[in-house]
Amino acid sequence: MSWTRACKIADVPEGTAVRVELGPDGLCVVHTEGAFYAVADNCSHADVPLSEGEVEGTTVECWLHGSQFDLRTGKPTGLPATEPVTVYETTTEGEDVLVNLES
Ligand code: FES
Repeated sequence: MSWTRACKIADVPEGTAVRVELGPDGLCVVHTEGAFYAVADNCSHADVPLSEGEVEGTTVECWLHGSQFDLRTGKPTGLPATEPVTVYETTTEGEDVLVNLES
């Protein structure tokens, strides 16, 4: 498994999301409920960055049409999106959030 540094823990306060320029679509890195998640930063319904949406529990909501994506599975919990977004494993090391871009 290979880990890539995505950002600092301090860059992502609890309850927020940030965009990181990694992977084919960029990453939406989320800190919520005490954990870090990373998904492709591109709504599966249209070309909209999920990192600009609202974090709620273990979901992030697309601001354009309101589909929420489960950060653990990448699956939308409601329409209009029907396809999942890619989920990447995360871990922390020291002050950093790391992602596994192969996951
Ligand atoms: S663009 Fe995200 S739900 Fe439509």
